[in-house]
Amino acid sequence: MRLTRKFVLMLVLGIMVVLTVNALIRVRREVELFDHDTRRDAALMGAVLAHDMGYAWRTEGEHAALSLLRDVAKKSQHVRVRFVTRDQLAAAKEAGLTERDLAVLDSGGTLSRRVERGDGALYTYVPVEAVAGRAGAVELMESLADERRYVRFTIVSTLIGTLVLILICAAMAGVVGAIFVGRPTRQLVEKVRRVGSGDLTGPLVLSQQDELGEIATEINAMSERLAAANQRVHKETEDRIAAEQQLRHADRLMTVGKLASGLAHELGTPLNVVSGRAQMIVSLESQGDQIRQDARIIVDQAKRMTNIIRQLLDFARPRTSQRAMLDLRTSAQQTIALLTSLAEKHRVKLVLPPGAPVIAPVDPTQLQQVITNLVVNAIHAIANAGTVTISVAAEQAKPPADIAGPARRYAVLRVRDDGQGMDEHTMAHIFEPFFTTKDVGDGTGLGLAVTHGIVREHEGWVQVESQLGRGSVFSVYLPMEGTSP
Ligand SMILES: Nc1ncnc2c1ncn2[C@@H]1O[C@H](COP(=O)(O)OP(=O)(O)OP(=O)(O)O)[C@@H](O)[C@H]1O
Ligand SMILES: [Mg+2]
Repeated sequence: MRLTRKFVLMLVLGIMVVLTVNALIRVRREVELFDHDTRRDAALMGAVLAHDMGYAWRTEGEHAALSLLRDVAKKSQHVRVRFVTRDQLAAAKEAGLTERDLAVLDSGGTLSRRVERGDGALYTYVPVEAVAGRAGAVELMESLADERRYVRFTIVSTLIGTLVLILICAAMAGVVGAIFVGRPTRQLVEKVRRVGSGDLTGPLVLSQQDELGEIATEINAMSERLAAANQRVHKETEDRIAAEQQLRHADRLMTVGKLASGLAHELGTPLNVVSGRAQMIVSLESQGDQIRQDARIIVDQAKRMTNIIRQLLDFARPRTSQRAMLDLRTSAQQTIALLTSLAEKHRVKLVLPPGAPVIAPVDPTQLQQVITNLVVNAIHAIANAGTVTISVAAEQAKPPADIAGPARRYAVLRVRDDGQGMDEHTMAHIFEPFFTTKDVGDGTGLGLAVTHGIVREHEGWVQVESQLGRGSVFSVYLPMEGTSP
């Protein structure tokens, strides 16, 4: 229920209780007064009649007394007047007289009795002093219909008055409530909703200087603080993204440098072929069709070299993330091919056991960068000949606490080496940018920081296990579906 309605209802209920109690007391009092007046008038009239009748009885006899009463009875419109003998009194069941009442009359007292049957009536008895003691009493019977009509009228008029008062109070409370509570509360709710949905513009202006006005001022101040904080977060996020991109690019260039030796080897073979065949043409060693064949071989080898160089350029160029459904196994194979010569130089065998394709939405270049960083690290960790095993699988896994979410299917890329492994201190810092245990010029400490950033951007994580002197396993978990680029 709305606040204004509650406020009005409570007020109306309160007023209703007060006015109703007041009306009841008033009606009761009016009725009592009316009853008292009626009794008093009847008693007075009875006393006068009894006195006159007694006097007539004593001076002129019973007949004169009774005819006096009859005259009065004829003239009296609202009150029935008659004389009742002592015996009649004893038998008067109508007014419900008891022995005690009769005793009161016998002792000269006045008696009045209400009878509520039918329209109701008020009986008043005043004893008449005749010659030989008390002959009986004057009975006055007054209908209570007038009194009841009066009571009804009082009740109805009080009720109407009360109702009108309640309605006026309710209307006034409603208007006041709507102006001072309803409207500002609606505006407050509207503003809070807008803040909740992220719209922090337009302060809420409430003219009133009460608690609601204070709330509005506080909400406005809160919105301003939130807007400032949002701006700061936005700026920091932009700065962080820019720094990460720079870091990634720097790492890519470093990787390119590392790959250079392997590439020199890759380019060396086709270059040798090209120069050999060209030499043969120049020295006229090749003749006729042989020249065409040499030229074709030169073209093929040139294409091969162009391809290798394009790959390298592609890898080095800064790019934004572009995900596609990719088989991680194929990606691993291609990267391994590029790293084979580096591995051979360190007498390291790169192994990729066969298996089914594992498809996941990933950025091909970024994935290649991740695999290169992990495999190059693994090669470097092996001092004197060893094996680096790269495996790809689909696994059900639950994300760590800092990512959260339910268990689901992940594409897992594992790079296992039988190299030197890591101590606890190294393990604790490997993902920090510029943390390296390598000599100056050998490592910059960016590889794993960048790897971590890329994997996080894919909503995945890197898990590391290592034993000093025995080797390490780096597992990259990438969601197989439901990620946004
Ligand atoms: N497979 C591994 N075995 C043992 N130690 C490792 C392995 N991979 C990483 N490390 C440790 O983690 C450190 C940080 O690795 P990271 O790839 O971030 O930088 P780096 O290899 O030193 O330099 P960069 O990759 O930038 O050339 C390494 O210096 C090394 O001490
Ligand atoms: Mg590295």
